[in-house]
Amino acid sequence: MSDDEHEHELLVSKIEDGTVIDHVTGGQALNVLAILGIDGSRGERVSVGINVPSGRLGRKDIVKVEGRELTPAEVDVLSLIAPNATINIIRGYDVIDKHRVERTAVVAGILSCPNPECITNAREPVETRFDVLDDGVRCVYCESIIREGLAEHIEVERPSV
Ligand code: CTP
Ligand code: ZN
Repeated sequence: MSDDEHEHELLVSKIEDGTVIDHVTGGQALNVLAILGIDGSRGERVSVGINVPSGRLGRKDIVKVEGRELTPAEVDVLSLIAPNATINIIRGYDVIDKHRVERTAVVAGILSCPNPECITNAREPVETRFDVLDDGVRCVYCESIIREGLAEHIEVERPSV
């Protein structure tokens, strides 16, 4: 760890149990929270560092979520916006598992199809499924392509009222 990286330790303190998503592409942390469906309204304990100095990436974001691990679908979508991210599983303050996100061929769920006529937007919707392209994703049902603004197509989980 470089001296610069020690600096951010002061900014974002260690967690006891949960997941640290490290080396997130600078500026993408809020999109990471959207992928995880975290808006703070359910009392989740989350620390975020945005554009903190990083030896490897120049600058990076970091998201620390307490008391929660990520689902494979969440990690797949994460890999699209933060291809260099490291997922650290923390138990009793120790890093018990660390792995890089992997480029995935398909993402299921979490992203919504922009085509209102798509079967995934029907009244009884089927789960979304996109093939991952070099420069975006393509709906396997209607072939709509999302190239830019992937984050705007993250399905927002709305707490029931
Ligand atoms: N971390 C944390 N709480 C803990 C343990 C670790 O928030 N109880 C965070 C660290 O701040 C770091 C990440 O989890 O951002 C990974 O921890 P560690 O492997 O100890 O750090 P590095 O060696 O710097 O990781 P890497 O080599 O992946 O950069
Ligand atoms: Zn579609």
